[in-house]
Amino acid sequence: MTGCRNIIDRLEKDYTLPREDFQQLLTGLSPEDEEYLYERAREVRHQVYGKDVYLRGLIEFTNVCKNDCYYCGIRRSNLNVQRYRLSTEEILDCCDRGYALGFRTFVLQGGEDGYFTDDRVCQLVSEIKTRHPDCAVTLSIGEKSRESYQAFFDAGADRYLLRQETSNPVHYRFLHPEELTIENRKRCLQDLKDIGYQVGCGIMVGSPGQTTDHIIEDLMFMGDFKPHMVGIGPFIPHKDTKFRDEAPGTLADTLHLLAILRLMLPNALIPATTALGTIHPLGREKGILAGANVVMPNLSPSTVRDKYLLYDGKICTGDEAAECCRCMERRMESIGYQVVVSRGDAKQENTDVLL
Ligand code: 5AD
Ligand code: FES
Repeated sequence: MTGCRNIIDRLEKDYTLPREDFQQLLTGLSPEDEEYLYERAREVRHQVYGKDVYLRGLIEFTNVCKNDCYYCGIRRSNLNVQRYRLSTEEILDCCDRGYALGFRTFVLQGGEDGYFTDDRVCQLVSEIKTRHPDCAVTLSIGEKSRESYQAFFDAGADRYLLRQETSNPVHYRFLHPEELTIENRKRCLQDLKDIGYQVGCGIMVGSPGQTTDHIIEDLMFMGDFKPHMVGIGPFIPHKDTKFRDEAPGTLADTLHLLAILRLMLPNALIPATTALGTIHPLGREKGILAGANVVMPNLSPSTVRDKYLLYDGKICTGDEAAECCRCMERRMESIGYQVVVSRGDAKQENTDVLL
């Protein structure tokens, strides 16, 4: 038992571990060690961010996607999806309503939709920044060229989310069709970082075919890459995909990884994701108590909420933004945390010298 505590203490001190120790941390913790891991993750989180929870207003502005990721409900070959695109006015209206509710970050998330050319994305970003100069704009619109990323950045985009999904090339191939490669995904992440974005990467926990070795590879990749944000959530099957009968990722595995990531990246912005709230009614609260510090209520118009279904059973699809926001405030207060009106930037760069 003390062996594992020692590993947790070393992770907190060194921000990384040798492979065998990651293996032990992932597979060999007693319930007491597990509790200790959460305590340390919470403590580190409190040292850096106190009990503040940052809000991100998620705007799912298009569910049209040219990609065909095998796990995803809005993959192009799913003909059962009613496709939609929000107009510029609708998107700006979401931001205005979000602003009034206290949001200071807007996350524009969408499929890889050719209608949204670089020019259109740039116009959208710069219009949002003109109307709300005190807000951050985060893009989550997939793989682009370095030039495109630069153009979005020059238009005012602050942050970019692009999960690698898995860092292992063979596993990546198992989850994605030929035209997508982990090499290009990592190229994108590096370009984004070099350009100056606050960058988020991340994985699905318990995705089909995922092994402990894959997770270790993910942790090592993220330890090296030092993202500003890490989005992880359980894999959840979608009925119109070939993974429909696969088991979902578990709450325990997701919480465990959240806590490990908090110790590895003390300053990171780590959301308690909607997927986590979907597999357990108190998933997001538990995520915060395992070290997460961000929640992302949905600001999309309620008319399109139920059309952006990456997985089955997604929560909050019937709720108005205002309701969702109040609900989130109550949920965070119920565990002794408070959502704050702030852009919620990372406390400092995740460089080698932390805290
Ligand atoms: N289950 C859980 N998460 C999923 N995502 C896509 N499909 C699923 C699924 N079936 C996640 C991916 C993507 C993010 C936007 O949503 O990790 O990066
Ligand atoms: Fe969306 Fe509760 S957080 S309804």
